[in-house]
Amino acid sequence: MVTKKIGIMTTGGDCSGLNTVIQRITDGCIRRKWQIIGIQDGTDGLYSSPAKTIDLSDMNFLFANSYSSGSILANGNENATNFESAARAGKLNAFNKRLQKSLKDLGLDALILIGGNGSLSLAHLYKEIYSDLQLVCIPKTMDLDIPLTDKTIGFDTAVQQLSYYAEQLLLIARSHHRWFVIQTMGRACGSLALNAGVAVGADAILIPEVKFDVDNLVKHIKKSNRDYGIIMVSEAISIRGHSGKPADMISRALTKANIPNRTAFPEHIQRAGNTVASDRILASGFADTALKAIENNETNVMTVLQNGEYKTVSLSDFFDAGRKVKDPHIVGVMTSNRYVEPDDVLLQIATDMGIYIGEKRK
Ligand code: F6P
Repeated sequence: MVTKKIGIMTTGGDCSGLNTVIQRITDGCIRRKWQIIGIQDGTDGLYSSPAKTIDLSDMNFLFANSYSSGSILANGNENATNFESAARAGKLNAFNKRLQKSLKDLGLDALILIGGNGSLSLAHLYKEIYSDLQLVCIPKTMDLDIPLTDKTIGFDTAVQQLSYYAEQLLLIARSHHRWFVIQTMGRACGSLALNAGVAVGADAILIPEVKFDVDNLVKHIKKSNRDYGIIMVSEAISIRGHSGKPADMISRALTKANIPNRTAFPEHIQRAGNTVASDRILASGFADTALKAIENNETNVMTVLQNGEYKTVSLSDFFDAGRKVKDPHIVGVMTSNRYVEPDDVLLQIATDMGIYIGEKRK
């Protein structure tokens, strides 16, 4: 039997499901008699000398935490040393070399990097960091903005969290005959708002991928046969000539039209919560696929779920497949993003449910 040493690292924003995938990978490694370590605090921990690591073979601790939100490995804080801060200081090359050296010093055969579209794009662009080992990535994000995979770890739990939050507000809305404008996370991708909006039967869902008209939104609300409800507003929408938070902009327009309303900001509660069963299954599928990819000597790949099938795709295919957007923090770097497509079946379902979803798919 070939013995291997595997590292796991979580980077970027956390989400529920990270601990499940860490636990499933660890379990798979132990059954294969491979050594397994966790790198703490993402690239900050890898950059440290020596790198900050923990032995993950204490399964009792992992087991007790495997369905809780956050990452037991931690993802680093905003003042941490990472690609962004290194780029700002003009030290990206030195930073990348140090990460490469750290991985070598740890003696890893493979690194499983659990990250979002920013981390995966950087892994593709700076692949030399991982040239001495096998790199297998696992897509996680509550935003579902990673191309080539139908699901990302954390998305379903975020939809559940947001739906639960909205349902609670709906009861208050009813007793006060008012509307709640809920501003969702999701960055530039409307998937979270769209899915949770359909789940709770919102009256309107505004997402960045669909052009909307505030007057038509007001008309829709006034025509409604109820005097209370939910308007789900994605954090990335904008209205020409208006500034401020998207939920506040919509709320002002409703108030002007004499529609009683309040705003609500669930914020990081959307990223919290016990991991739902479908995210646990996804985490198990991705962990299994990642370990098999290591056995097959694959590198620079990402696990995906496509039409019910778990497999890997190359990081270059992931990068080529998405719409490229300038990295907000690193000049000259592009990230590969996915959005709600015009043919997304939920747009039609929402329309058929009588939900105001906007005018024209962009
Ligand atoms: O990408 C995940 C996410 O939760 C986004 O939906 C949100 O815009 C952002 O991260 C919030 O980031 P932070 O936790 O740094 O405020």
